[in-house]
Amino acid sequence: MIDVQAAPHAGLSAPSAWVARWAHLLRPGARVLDLACGSGRHAAWLAARGHAVLAVDRDAAAIAGLPSGVTGCVADLEQGTWPLAGEAPFDAIVVTNYLHRPLWPHLAAALAPGGVWLYETFAAGNETVGKPSRPDFLLRPGELLEVARTHGLRVIAYEDGVQEVPKTAFVQRLCAVREAAAAPDAATPARYRLDP
Ligand SMILES: C[S@@+](CC[C@H](N)C(=O)[O-])C[C@H]1O[C@@H](n2cnc3c(N)ncnc32)[C@H](O)[C@@H]1O
Repeated sequence: MIDVQAAPHAGLSAPSAWVARWAHLLRPGARVLDLACGSGRHAAWLAARGHAVLAVDRDAAAIAGLPSGVTGCVADLEQGTWPLAGEAPFDAIVVTNYLHRPLWPHLAAALAPGGVWLYETFAAGNETVGKPSRPDFLLRPGELLEVARTHGLRVIAYEDGVQEVPKTAFVQRLCAVREAAAAPDAATPARYRLDP
């Protein structure tokens, strides 16, 4: 992975290098969902880049501490109905260090045409080096690729391996897009820039 150094928002840890690596694919002023946002390191960083971020977590204190410019939503994503049913589709969805497989159809449906899905979380094998170690919290080999294909997303980048920094962890990373309907000039292909 190209390590894009991104400055953290004041008081927060730095955004994931994967999110920073692909954030240039978001259209200006994109409406972004940061799911299971925690303290909001991505929400804050993306809002500072001019995006309109809705950050969701069940931790009310974390949501209350989100910086101004980020819209927070306290919701338990694993109980009851999908809490974002009334929301318009998002131009981008960011999920890091969180996995609840029943949400995938909801997330895929919540991604607007042209939208970007950035996902990064722990994978099988991580139980040999630390937490999380429960299979429910660990992706199976190739699983994010499979999810993208199942939901008709185009994969721009995918990684499935071990990182050593900041600590040893088995992870998968996905950058995928829901391709917009064919442009009037179908001879002009969509351009997904690989260079940051
Ligand atoms: C490891 S943190 C990741 C935070 C953030 N995505 C990041 O990478 O910095 C996992 C987050 O998932 C949230 N979470 C766990 N279970 C949840 C649930 N059922 N509903 C909503 N949020 C949940 C936790 O409150 C926590 O903030």
